[in-house]
Amino acid sequence: MGYSAGMSTRKYVTVCINHRANPDLPSCGARGGGEIAQALKAAVAAQGLPVEVVTFNCLGECERGPNVKLSPGGEFCHGVRPDDLTPVLEKISAFAGHADSRE
Ligand code: FES
Repeated sequence: MGYSAGMSTRKYVTVCINHRANPDLPSCGARGGGEIAQALKAAVAAQGLPVEVVTFNCLGECERGPNVKLSPGGEFCHGVRPDDLTPVLEKISAFAGHADSRE
């Protein structure tokens, strides 16, 4: 039942969309995390990249957000700009193309 031989590991792009309750504290949601998640989902689908974009509430680096983490074993991207996703998309594209080299 749905068993897969595990030849390929699923890859994730995790976007923090957390809005902290205290507006005086920085949070990714307040800095465009939601927009980033939507735009990355659209871009990944348009490019057919084999990664899944998922959202998360706080990756523990709130001061440095918006944050996007590539996993497993990928880069933790900080200060991602919703109005300029090219740099992070390049990283995602490179990450998606990598064979699992950590085993
Ligand atoms: S709010 Fe995004 S890392 Fe904490």
